Amino acid sequence: MTDFYDELTPFYHLIYQDWNASVDRQGEQLSALIKTEWPTSRKILDVSSGIGTQAIGLAMRGYSVSASDLSEKEIERAKQEARSRSVEVSFSVCDMRNAFAHHGSGWDVVVSADNSLPHLLTDEDVLCALKQMTECLSVGGGCIVTVRDYEREERGKNLIKPYGARVENGYRYMLFQLWDFEGEHYDVTFFFVQENLATQEVKTYAMRSRYYAVSTHRLSELMREARLQNVRRLDGVFFQPVLVGTKAA
Ligand SMILES: C[S@@+](CC[C@H](N)C(=O)[O-])C[C@H]1O[C@@H](n2cnc3c(N)ncnc32)[C@H](O)[C@@H]1O
Repeated sequence: MTDFYDELTPFYHLIYQDWNASVDRQGEQLSALIKTEWPTSRKILDVSSGIGTQAIGLAMRGYSVSASDLSEKEIERAKQEARSRSVEVSFSVCDMRNAFAHHGSGWDVVVSADNSLPHLLTDEDVLCALKQMTECLSVGGGCIVTVRDYEREERGKNLIKPYGARVENGYRYMLFQLWDFEGEHYDVTFFFVQENLATQEVKTYAMRSRYYAVSTHRLSELMREARLQNVRRLDGVFFQPVLVGTKAA
């Protein structure tokens, strides 16, 4: 799994039509959610930041943000992306299942966005991460998890998920994923077909990972088990379903 994101790092922004616009939009959407749910929040922790899509977007809105991820390469790039925008984020490498030992407590909001938790393949591991996120929170603080809506995804083998085409620096990229389900898990190969527009030379990069197609219903149960209260699914506030919960006294 680490290899998947380490290899994906130089291409990661290509997943988006316009990554900069997504950083801005997602920062705005999460900021609006935070202001509604936990209005006095200042200190945000992102435990699966990747190259910083949400962490940088939130820091650009004045929050004090720390962020970590399992992938060293992504964190390296996240630091460069923040620096090039003169945005202050404290980035480090950490497995979210060790978030409390690494980051300690006192956070107003802890975030894990864009389908990161389903990289953990068992309920036990997901619960472990959620408990660590809860431990990191101050009393009254909020947990935000955003995930794919697996109830709406077709199950089967050889499923193609197109991500479109992008043109950048003299290359055209065609992006698609191939999914193979096996019970509640599926294997993904993410293909990046790179065409040199000057020479027509084509190279294909393929990166593989496995996911747990955990439902938002099951995730909500696990959030309650992790001692979060007022756990709810919110639709229409982000590009994928958002689960929120609050740490009780
Ligand atoms: C789809 S990416 C989302 C990254 C980022 N939130 C974004 O939207 O750009 C999923 C991320 O989860 C991270 N991840 C997977 N398992 C992890 C773990 N156990 N601890 C921390 N991060 C993990 C991956 O390295 C990857 O960066």
